Amino acid sequence: MKNIITIDGPVASGKSSLARALANKLGYYHINSGYFYRSLAYILIKFCKKTLDDLRALDQEDIECIDLNKLEYVYDEGRPQVFYQGTDLTPHLKTRDIDDGASTISTYPFIREAVNKFQHQLAGDHDIVIDGRDIGTIVFPEAKIKIFLTASEEERTSRWQNDQRKKGNIFSFDQSLAEVQERDRRDTTRSIAPLTIPENGLVIDNSNRSNEDVVREVLELI
Ligand code: C5P
Repeated sequence: MKNIITIDGPVASGKSSLARALANKLGYYHINSGYFYRSLAYILIKFCKKTLDDLRALDQEDIECIDLNKLEYVYDEGRPQVFYQGTDLTPHLKTRDIDDGASTISTYPFIREAVNKFQHQLAGDHDIVIDGRDIGTIVFPEAKIKIFLTASEEERTSRWQNDQRKKGNIFSFDQSLAEVQERDRRDTTRSIAPLTIPENGLVIDNSNRSNEDVVREVLELI
């Protein structure tokens, strides 16, 4: 069986940075599962002409306009990229609207099914570090190393606000806090695959720790 390391955690807890660093050190493939939810939200809006409001009341037939065979995840030189019909979606995936759209559509069972199928296909071919919300609990509960990464709400809000600022999007601390709280609320309270600590998961709080420090701890554990 291939090696699998799972990293789950709330918004802006640093999952992707940790996953990327571990994948580079270990020579594993990094799967960023949030990218799939983000890509499907982006495709629904840009290619299927749905509005953010439409995403709040989506039917299974609405996703028939997406050709999943044309969705491609490429992990190249330490950087994940997603293509749809040959177009690179990656630069468009981390906006506030796609944050919201991805978290909205992630509550639908038919969306989660499509994403999980895709993730299992990718994992069949590689040793992986995969980050998300339900990876250690639902998608790969058999993984030997399962991490639940978190940080204080204040710290995560500042990280989210700074990430947006770097893209030229200015949000006040209170606006940022509201965004983070709303996504966390959806992710932890949805009826299907809510965010929770996996059985035998190692909880790491990185509020006052560097990524290198946490990478060292996980490598020791491995
Ligand atoms: O991890 P990231 O913040 O990029 O994920 C975007 C959204 O996708 C999350 O807010 C969450 O609603 C959803 N997601 C999920 N399950 C995963 C990964 C992401 O529901 N495994």
